[in-house]
Amino acid sequence: MNPVISVKAMSTGYAGQPVVHDLSFDVLAGEILCLLGPNGAGKTTTMLALAGELPLIDGEIEFAGVKRNAPLYKRARNGMSYVTEERSIFKGMTLRDNLRIGGVGVEEAVALFPELGRRLGVRGGLLSGGEQQMLTLARALGRKPRLLLADELSLGLAPLVVDRLLEAVRRAADEQGTAVIMVEQHAHKALRYTDRAMVIRRGRVQLDLTGEEARGRIGEVEQAYLTVSGGDPKAGEKGDSR
Ligand SMILES: Nc1ncnc2c1ncn2[C@@H]1O[C@H](COP(=O)(O)OP(=O)(O)OP(=O)(O)O)[C@@H](O)[C@H]1O
Ligand SMILES: [Mg+2]
Repeated sequence: MNPVISVKAMSTGYAGQPVVHDLSFDVLAGEILCLLGPNGAGKTTTMLALAGELPLIDGEIEFAGVKRNAPLYKRARNGMSYVTEERSIFKGMTLRDNLRIGGVGVEEAVALFPELGRRLGVRGGLLSGGEQQMLTLARALGRKPRLLLADELSLGLAPLVVDRLLEAVRRAADEQGTAVIMVEQHAHKALRYTDRAMVIRRGRVQLDLTGEEARGRIGEVEQAYLTVSGGDPKAGEKGDSR
């Protein structure tokens, strides 16, 4: 099977300075890759580059067999959806209208998240944080993307809601063959739903495990991104110079 997205020796960063170095992976249809790592590791930077929001410094990305450089609005049409912790909803519009504007049927959204069925007439701004994020995800998945990029989708939400969101992502992968790359803070939870886990530290891959391996080595995975020993020497320099 051809990968949906193939990343080869990618380096990316800001103003020509690499923050992520030599990153390579493929994600197949129906596969979920979870990126883990400490604050500042380069997870969001990686996602931005995959979404085409940041230029590559080196390497290449192939999406659906084609090297991509198109801006996000074009790629959304071509099957890539990008969601973040910022809920992309219209606060003054009802949930129903938010779905309509996103081109997603009410039945489809309610099939994903039955709890939204009772809230269709409620304005986006009055929905709970969890409901807003279910709406965001329903809009993203309702477009049947080939690739879903999800950066801390569940940030700040209650554990039960986190599970609802991750379950829906897993189902999209299993039932629609959506390829998924997600960044999650809750390693324990995220690893339950993932096929592959990469721990990134200081812009480099430190651990690259199958979901099963990662679930069996959860302590090691957490350790890899919780320990601060051997931290960035530059950070030390900065601290010293103060
Ligand atoms: N706009 C920017 N300009 C310059 N440097 C940036 C910019 N955004 C992020 N960085 C730097 O890039 C590095 C990686 O940041 P990034 O946001 O990718 O980390 P992250 O793994 O997503 O962290 P977090 O878990 O806090 O979200 C950090 O050192 C950060 O300071
Ligand atoms: Mg981030």
